[in-house]
Amino acid sequence: MRPLQGSRSRGVVVGTVTLCLAAGWALQTPGGVSLVVPQPNINATVAQNILLSVEYSCRGVATIEWKHVSSWGTTSIVEWRSGNYVNISTVYKDRVTTFENGSIQLRNVGMRDAGYYFVTVMDEHGTNAYGTIIVNVYGTN
Ligand SMILES: *[C@@H]1O[C@H](CO)[C@@H](O)[C@H](O)[C@H]1NC(C)=O
Ligand SMILES: *[C@@H]1O[C@H](CO)[C@@H](O)[C@H](O)[C@H]1NC(C)=O
Ligand SMILES: *[C@@H]1O[C@H](CO)[C@@H](O)[C@H](O)[C@H]1NC(C)=O
Repeated sequence: MRPLQGSRSRGVVVGTVTLCLAAGWALQTPGGVSLVVPQPNINATVAQNILLSVEYSCRGVATIEWKHVSSWGTTSIVEWRSGNYVNISTVYKDRVTTFENGSIQLRNVGMRDAGYYFVTVMDEHGTNAYGTIIVNVYGTN
């Protein structure tokens, strides 16, 4: 009696977990785009190089765009298509490197680089995934 009951309830638990995983996966990838931001807050010091690290997954070609928003205004940093052109804004030209996973490196940061960094990943059907990284920049006194 006892072993039978035990295995039956275990079967119910496994079934429920499988169902939840399937639902979670469906919610995470509505149009086949997802974005992970492992470190949403970065503390940097002036002149440091920082990596705005993300990892996206997307079926087909993705368009990645980074913007900087601070009290100085909103600036487009870079926009590119996976495996295609990279369009870096003139003001960032010498300071930005793009990576295949959607990340960018920003070199020689100054106080004005503090603020919010918004990244958008868009697939060919126009489905978006968004991420935000807050960067604090401290002076060297
Ligand atoms: C950055 O600094 C703030 C304030 O000092 C602190 O709360 C936060 O944990 C720091 N973040 C990281 C990633 O070190
Ligand atoms: C993205 O790629 C860069 C360069 O290879 C790597 O340093 C970074 O850790 C990657 N980010 C994530 C979230 O995997
Ligand atoms: C590159 O960016 C500039 C300024 O944002 C824009 O005018 C131009 O059309 C872009 N070029 C491409 C190929 O997207």
